[in-house]
Amino acid sequence: MKTEQKTIVFAIVNQKGGVGKTTTAISLGYGLARKGKKVLLIDFDPQGSLTVSMGIDNPDQLTDTIADLMTCMMQDAEPEWDKFVLRHDEVDFIPGNIELATVEAGLVNTMSREQMLKLIVAHFRSDYDYILIDCCPSLGMLTINALTAADSLLIPCSCEYLSAKGLELLLKNVIRVRKFLNPDLKISGILLTMYRGNTNLAKDISELITDSYQSALHIYQTRIPVSVKVPEAGMNNRSIFEYAAKNKVAAAYEMLTEEITGGENV
Ligand SMILES: Nc1ncnc2c1ncn2[C@@H]1O[C@H](COP(=O)(O)OP(=O)(O)OP(=O)(O)O)[C@@H](O)[C@H]1O
Ligand SMILES: [Mg+2]
Repeated sequence: MKTEQKTIVFAIVNQKGGVGKTTTAISLGYGLARKGKKVLLIDFDPQGSLTVSMGIDNPDQLTDTIADLMTCMMQDAEPEWDKFVLRHDEVDFIPGNIELATVEAGLVNTMSREQMLKLIVAHFRSDYDYILIDCCPSLGMLTINALTAADSLLIPCSCEYLSAKGLELLLKNVIRVRKFLNPDLKISGILLTMYRGNTNLAKDISELITDSYQSALHIYQTRIPVSVKVPEAGMNNRSIFEYAAKNKVAAAYEMLTEEITGGENV
C-alpha cells in the first residue's frame, strides 16, 4: 500500500545513450522499494531495456505495454488499467517495446500530443509513492511527454561520455517545457555515473560539470562507480541489490536513495 507521502514522479533523462538511465531507474526503484516505498517503473524507451532487465526476454512480443496505453490516451479510450502493470519482486512496472516508436510517429497528428503520458501517470499517482520514467536517448516527442508528465528530473551523466553541450541542449528543452507545458518541473539533480575515481578523465569531467552547473543545478553527492556486476545483474534479471548486495555500486545506489528520500532535492 502507498504511504502517506505525496507521490513524486521522476523522469530519468539524458538524450545521450548509454549513460546509465535504465540502470539508475531500476536501482533507484529497488532502493526505494527496500525502504518500504511503493514504486512504479515505466519503460518509456522503444528499446525496451528496462523490460528485458525485469525478466521479459522478448518485449516486442508483448501486447499490453505503455505503447498501448499511449494509444488509448490518443484515441480517448478508457483502458483496462490493471492489465498493464506487471510485478518483478518488490516493484511494479509497465513494460515498453518497439511499438513506442510507432506511437511517437502517431503523436504528430494528436491534439495535446505532449500530454499523453501525463494522463497515464495521473491515473497511477494515487497508488504509488514514486513513479520513475526511464526515458529513451533522444529529445523527441516521447521525451517531451516524459518532461511534461514528471515532477522532477534526474539526469545521469556518464563520466566517460559526457558532453557538456548535450546537457545544455537538454536544459534548453527543460526551459521550454517549463514555459509552455509544465511550469512546476524541477531538476532534482545530475548524477555522475560510471565514475572511475582513480582516473584523471573522471576527475576532469566531474570538475567540468561542477564548474559549469553547480551554481544552477544540484549535483548529487553520490557518484556511481563502475563495476562489471552491473551488466551481469542486468543479464541475470536481478537488481544490483539482489545480485551483488555487497558491491560498491549497490552501496552507491543505496546512498543515492538516501539522498533522494532525504527530500531536500526533489
Ligand atoms: N555503474 C556501472 N558500471 C558498469 N557498467 C554500467 C554501469 N551502469 C550502467 N552500466 C552498463 O552500461 C550500459 C548502459 O547502461 P544503461 O542501459 O543503464 O544506459 P542508458 O542510458 O539507459 O542507455 P540507453 O540510452 O541506450 O537507454 C549497460 O550495459 C549497463 O549494464
Ligand atoms: Mg536505457
